[in-house]
Amino acid sequence: MTAGSTTIEKPAGQPGAALRRAAGAWFFVMVSAQWIFVFYIIGFYGVRTFSGNLASWNGHPFIKGHVPGDLAGNVAFGAHVLLAALITMGGTLQLVPQVRSHMPWFHRWNGRLFLSLAILVSVAGFYMVWLRAPPDDPLSELSISLNGLLILVFATLAWRAAATRNVASHRRWALRALLAVNGVFFLRLIFSSWLLLTQTEPSAALFVAFDYLAFLLPLVILQLYLHASDRGGGLSNYAVATVLYAASAIMALGAVGFSLIFVRMIVFGQN
Ligand code: HEM
Repeated sequence: MTAGSTTIEKPAGQPGAALRRAAGAWFFVMVSAQWIFVFYIIGFYGVRTFSGNLASWNGHPFIKGHVPGDLAGNVAFGAHVLLAALITMGGTLQLVPQVRSHMPWFHRWNGRLFLSLAILVSVAGFYMVWLRAPPDDPLSELSISLNGLLILVFATLAWRAAATRNVASHRRWALRALLAVNGVFFLRLIFSSWLLLTQTEPSAALFVAFDYLAFLLPLVILQLYLHASDRGGGLSNYAVATVLYAASAIMALGAVGFSLIFVRMIVFGQN
């Protein structure tokens, strides 16, 4: 059924049991790690913002948060990080089948909120990268900009497919939007799992590679998942299930590493 039609289209093939279980494990790790990320955003930026201590946004070594006299930049940064907490959790709620079937109104309104905020947060991000200060690390800045561009494209296509009741297409674009929105979160997990495993900082080149992997790898894995689901069962289901378990293990490791960094920063005030 083409976009523009008002006929409701059923989602394409369903995953086999092995792939469903692996997707369930991935979802569990994803939500658990997101809670930690959201606690970090609220515990670090939320507390500092609402106590009026904006200068302490800069407590993080790589982040240029507060710049004295730069009202527009400071507002963009504050809105960017605080809304990030909302979309991080809000987006994942959209995946819960019970929420979709028992509370379709919630799915619709939360979906609109998620897509609007994702666009707003990305626009604030573009402002910070390209207008707030001269770019100082072009490869990283290009990677986050490509990530932002994908968010804008996927969010628009997900919204358009929902408006035309093309459920299969909506599901695919919304999943892509969700993963692209979580690129910053995946980067923290990849970086933290690397630190935990090697106990060394990645080289500058490896860090740039992480920047790109953080949003491109999840999108590739999603594509494999959708492809295997469409085939309904068989060997590809087991192969993609294995990939999902491996991704979940890295994410779980990253969540442990990130928690240690987070506790050190927030509880002990170290960077
Ligand atoms: C929509 C999904 C996004 C989320 C959830 C998100 C979330 C965040 C968070 C939580 C931080 C603080 C980082 C930390 O303390 O570790 C941050 C910083 C930042 N983000 Fe985003 N972000 C998103 C998209 C983008 C996009 C698309 C861009 C650029 C086009 C961007 C540019 C920035 C910049 C420039 C910083 C400050 C880091 C620095 O000064 O180097 N973000 N973001």
